[in-house]
Amino acid sequence: MKSPRSRILIVDDDEKILFAFQEVFKKDGYDSFIARDGAEAVTKVVASPPSAVIMDITMPGLDGLEALKKIKQQNPSLPVILITGFGTMQTAIKAMQLGAFEYLTKPLDVGVVRDVVRRALSSISRSPVSGGKPVSFNAEVMNRYEIVGRTPGMQEIYKLIGSISTTPTHTSVLILGESGTGKELFARAIHANSQNAQEPFVAINCTALPETLLESELFGYEKGAFTGAQGRKLGKFEDAGRGTIFLDEVGNLSPQLQQKLLRVLQEREFNRLGGNEPRHVEARFVTATNQDLHAEVKRKAFREDLFFRLNVVTIQLPPLRERKEDVPLLAVHFLMKYNEQLKKNIQGFSEEALHLLCEYQYPGNVRELENLVERAVMLTNGNVILANAIGELPSQPSPHPPSLPIVSTVFSKSRLHVIGLFEKQFLMHQLSLSHGNVTAAATASRMTRQNFQRLMKKYGVESPSFKK
Ligand SMILES: Nc1ncnc2c1ncn2[C@@H]1O[C@H](COP(=O)(O)OP(=O)(O)OP(=O)(O)O)[C@@H](O)[C@H]1O
Ligand SMILES: [Mg+2]
Repeated sequence: MKSPRSRILIVDDDEKILFAFQEVFKKDGYDSFIARDGAEAVTKVVASPPSAVIMDITMPGLDGLEALKKIKQQNPSLPVILITGFGTMQTAIKAMQLGAFEYLTKPLDVGVVRDVVRRALSSISRSPVSGGKPVSFNAEVMNRYEIVGRTPGMQEIYKLIGSISTTPTHTSVLILGESGTGKELFARAIHANSQNAQEPFVAINCTALPETLLESELFGYEKGAFTGAQGRKLGKFEDAGRGTIFLDEVGNLSPQLQQKLLRVLQEREFNRLGGNEPRHVEARFVTATNQDLHAEVKRKAFREDLFFRLNVVTIQLPPLRERKEDVPLLAVHFLMKYNEQLKKNIQGFSEEALHLLCEYQYPGNVRELENLVERAVMLTNGNVILANAIGELPSQPSPHPPSLPIVSTVFSKSRLHVIGLFEKQFLMHQLSLSHGNVTAAATASRMTRQNFQRLMKKYGVESPSFKK
């Protein structure tokens, strides 16, 4: 028997989009029907359940997020793909928390839409896995941990935070990223968006304390567990309750503590130092490191079994130089932050100042940008931050070698061309340093004067043009 055709409900208030999607789905062999707002979508889902829904978020009346919530109440396993023109962190997180199958930002790529719809349809053939109850989105909390960034890489991370919040607390999260990329900020955002946001967020830096102290900080101790233990003290594992334990710089844990932590994660149980009554751990573990943990595992400095336990979900934060489009946004965000802190009323950046900020490579990532803006706000008395308040930024070797022209498929020809470019540039550089003095330029280059001149002739370089 031929299986019935998949039916897709398209929800949008834009006729052009409705039409375009209908055409695409027709070509792919699906049936489709439409709704023009959220309320109509909910009614149609009940009246005639589709195989999947693709729905815009911004619509008059009941918007896409509200409609999603209602649809999921009616039919929890129906895959709903949400689309938005303006992706903010809040909507991405909320969409995933409410159980959206996917969340796409415009401009849409037809290939991506097709692929997502195909995945959505195949998901219903498998038995649906309930991901815990959706939590309500707490906008106020999110504002406190405001994370700025609109690049696609960041959007993916927001979605991940939303998805994490629907997982049980024993799903550990490992945050990787260079220094200053926002690891702690994201750890807090995970907590703030979790079902246990009201419970404690307990952060501990694994390098801040000597090993024995760290152990008693984490595990707590009973009276008399060691000299000086005059009373019982609860450790961080207990302090966190059903909240979140954030272990920062986890790559630096000693082998002994790695082993103890492994046991805690495996058994969800531990003993206070000097205690013999096992205690339960109910909090979620979020860990972070700026080390290459894979490499540490390879060279046996970090336990592989622990790595797998910590790394159930990984968030890889991109360095700022790989998402330069976010620099202006972040700069304005920090400008507002420091305007408020330093009681200033600066309106923005001069073009030149912004250019400087955008050109820079930020080895210290977002933290470095934040420090630069803070300093500039302090130094600025006028309305606008000028380039001189940014100061001189160290120029950095580009992480990528410059791309060289390949002028011919014949190796020797291409090689000669590049060598020619180099030789000419080198001569000119040396001559400009020596202000056109050929003998000095040749000496500095460790070449004979004759050779230097021969090359000058070859490339038509003339010394007088470098005289001062
Ligand atoms: N996407 C972002 N939006 C807004 N602020 C950010 C963002 N990322 C980082 N920051 C800010 O940059 C600073 C550094 O962030 P954070 O301390 O979380 O980095 P980190 O990765 O933990 O750094 P380290 O590895 O050095 O500990 C903080 O003030 C944080 O608020
Ligand atoms: Mg940190």
